[in-house]
Amino acid sequence: MEKDIQKNKLLLLGKLFATLTHEIRNPLSVLKMNLEMIELPKTKEEEDEYLESIANSKEATERIDSLVRQTIDFINSGSGEVSHVSLTEIANNAYRFLIHKARKDKKKLIEEYSENVPLVVGNRNEILQIVINLVNNSLDATEEGGFVKIKTYQEEDTVVLEVEDNGTGIKKEQQAEIFNEFFTTKQNGTGLGLAVCNEIAKKHDAKLEFISQYGAWTKFFVRFKNNGDRDDS
Ligand SMILES: Nc1ncnc2c1ncn2[C@@H]1O[C@H](COP(=O)(O)OP(=O)(O)OP(=O)(O)O)[C@@H](O)[C@H]1O
Ligand SMILES: [Mg+2]
Repeated sequence: MEKDIQKNKLLLLGKLFATLTHEIRNPLSVLKMNLEMIELPKTKEEEDEYLESIANSKEATERIDSLVRQTIDFINSGSGEVSHVSLTEIANNAYRFLIHKARKDKKKLIEEYSENVPLVVGNRNEILQIVINLVNNSLDATEEGGFVKIKTYQEEDTVVLEVEDNGTGIKKEQQAEIFNEFFTTKQNGTGLGLAVCNEIAKKHDAKLEFISQYGAWTKFFVRFKNNGDRDDS
C-alpha cells in the first residue's frame, strides 16, 4: 500500500515535470523569436515594435520564473508534514498555477471562496495535488469558452472544496470506473489522477465525490471534517 502510494507520487511528479517542460517551451520560443528580431532599429516604427518585443520578452521570463518556482515549491513540500491549513489558500495556489494554461486555451478559470471557511488538518502539498488534478481534469473536459470554477465553503459539519465545470460530463456507464487506476478516456492520460486524489483524500479522512450530467457539467467535491478551526488570516 505504502509502496503503491510512493509509486503514484513518482508517476505524478514525472507527469508534472513533463507538463512543466512543455509549458516552458512556449515562453522560451517567444523570447527566441523576439531576440532574433531585435537588431538596431532603422525607423521609428521599428523602434516601437522593438519596445513591444522587449515587454513581451520580460513577461515571458516572468512566466518561466514563476513556473519553475511553483514546481520547486510543489516538489519540496512533499514532507508529509501535517498542520492546520486553509483550503482557500491552497485553492488559490492551484488557481495561480493553472490560470495561464486556462487563458491560453480560452477557458475561464473562476475562484469563488466563502468567507471564514474553517481550517482543515492536513498536508498542504497533498491537498494542492488534489486541486491541481481536479482542475486539470475539468480544463481537459471543457471546450473553448467554457468555465471551471473552484469553490471553498462550509457545509454542515464538513469543509468543502468543489471543482465545477461545464464540460463534456461523464457517461453513466463510466462513472463507476473513473477512480480505478489507469482508467482514462484521454489519448495521453495516465488514468492515475483521480486514483491519487482518492488516496490522498482517504489519508485525510476526507471524501472525494462527484456528480455529473453527460454532455453538460461535472462537479467534484472534497469534503473534509470540520474541526471548527477558525481561519483568522
Ligand atoms: N471533470 C471531468 N469531466 C469529464 N470527465 C472527467 C472529469 N474528470 C475526470 N473525468 C474522466 O475520468 C477519467 C480519469 O481521470 P484521471 O484524472 O484519473 O485520469 P486522466 O485525467 O485520464 O489522466 P491524467 O490524470 O494522468 O492526465 C478521465 O480520463 C475522464 O474520462
Ligand atoms: Mg486527470
